[in-house]
Amino acid sequence: MTEPSPPTAANRIIPVADWRRPGPQAAETHPLIPAQGLLQDRLQRPLRDLRISVTDRCNFRCGYCMPKEVFDKNYPYLPHASLLSFEEITRVAAQFLAHGVRKIRLTGGEPLLRKNLEHLIEMLAALRTPEGLPPELTLTTNGSLLARKARALRDAGLQRVTVSLDGLDDAVFRRMNDVDFPVADVLAGIEAARDAGLGARGGLKVNMVVKRGTNEHEILPMARHFRGRGVTLRFIEYMDVGATNGWRMDEVLPSAQVIERLQTEFALVPLEAAAPGETAQRWGYAGPSGQWDPSLGEVGVISSVTQAFCHDCNRARLSTEGQVYLCLFAGQGHDLRSLLRGGASDAELASAIAHIWQGRSDRYSELRASLPAEAAEPSPGRRRVEMSYIGG
Ligand code: GTP
Ligand code: 5AD
Ligand code: SF4
Ligand code: SF4
Repeated sequence: MTEPSPPTAANRIIPVADWRRPGPQAAETHPLIPAQGLLQDRLQRPLRDLRISVTDRCNFRCGYCMPKEVFDKNYPYLPHASLLSFEEITRVAAQFLAHGVRKIRLTGGEPLLRKNLEHLIEMLAALRTPEGLPPELTLTTNGSLLARKARALRDAGLQRVTVSLDGLDDAVFRRMNDVDFPVADVLAGIEAARDAGLGARGGLKVNMVVKRGTNEHEILPMARHFRGRGVTLRFIEYMDVGATNGWRMDEVLPSAQVIERLQTEFALVPLEAAAPGETAQRWGYAGPSGQWDPSLGEVGVISSVTQAFCHDCNRARLSTEGQVYLCLFAGQGHDLRSLLRGGASDAELASAIAHIWQGRSDRYSELRASLPAEAAEPSPGRRRVEMSYIGG
């Protein structure tokens, strides 16, 4: 028997099926459940973190997220009228806060492509939790527009920022973003974010998706570059999210191996989680005493493939067009836009959110981890939301 030829990026792309049909109407929600800040899902997980996608477009074409072959000029991006307006997003966010959300992350696609995003940030920053506190407000970006926008984002009330960066070598980075974007511009964006004050209290983070055979040799250079510079670098296991990236288990570099590689050069000590439900396992750089030296900072690993963290997942996701997704791997969302545009009151919105969260039992990554490797790989045509649509 002859060996099958190795798959190429192009022949592994799985065509996109339209998974964006409207989800179940959230309107059939009786009796009304008032917001009391105490929501729990069916696995007793609280609701604490809301990720809001503000656009499904991006100016990069990272192969693991928006492969060029699928996200080309014919791709059916959402029309403007489908997008939630800033007023609609703020109304929904206020009800999520009333139910216990403490942190709001803006994502995309690339969120900085949404026009006047600073206005949305101002509106969200003016919201209050039931205890009278402002929400923690952050944003995930590819950094391409950050040098230009960091100051205005900070002035509008953004507190911190996470930049995606998959390598320092310019050729590797240009290949990974697949639009020939230079790494120097992203590094300038990170500097601008720091100068604008978006890095206070360890708030500046860089996320690197590690793909075996593609950018694994960038792990150590990235660590050397960001160590001691007030930036927390986190290595993310390449995930089988969406249905277009042709994910395969053998391209995942387990986080345990990332840590081993780092330990060939740096002394690391494990750190406690900073908050319940945190995605990353934290490691501090040790100083000469062998203890963590906070001035050197920390790194993190996000191991959703080899060490799923669904048991305390407290994240809800609001799509660009107002669907609530309860899991990054969900096949369907719950439609809030029809409620918003159908004249629902705040109490009805709050109640719909409560019903949606209370019905949640998603724990995809844990279930996938219990499957044999062959069964874990995606089947063609399966419905699964794209990360560019609901954000990281
Ligand atoms: P902070 O630590 O508060 O900055 O947020 P975070 O840890 O949630 O980090 P971030 O939003 O930057 O997420 C980092 C990456 O972790 C994302 O880009 C995803 O790849 C992955 N991730 C985040 N949330 C989830 C989740 O709920 N499930 C899975 N499987 N992966 C997630
Ligand atoms: N696996 C892991 N992380 C991913 N992201 C997008 N697609 C994937 C994937 N397949 C993350 C990247 C980026 C954020 C927007 O989403 O970290 O930082
Ligand atoms: Fe764009 Fe981020 Fe997706 Fe890359 S990972 S294509 S930068 S949304
Ligand atoms: Fe949460 Fe789903 Fe990710 Fe598990 S796989 S951590 S339930 S988003």
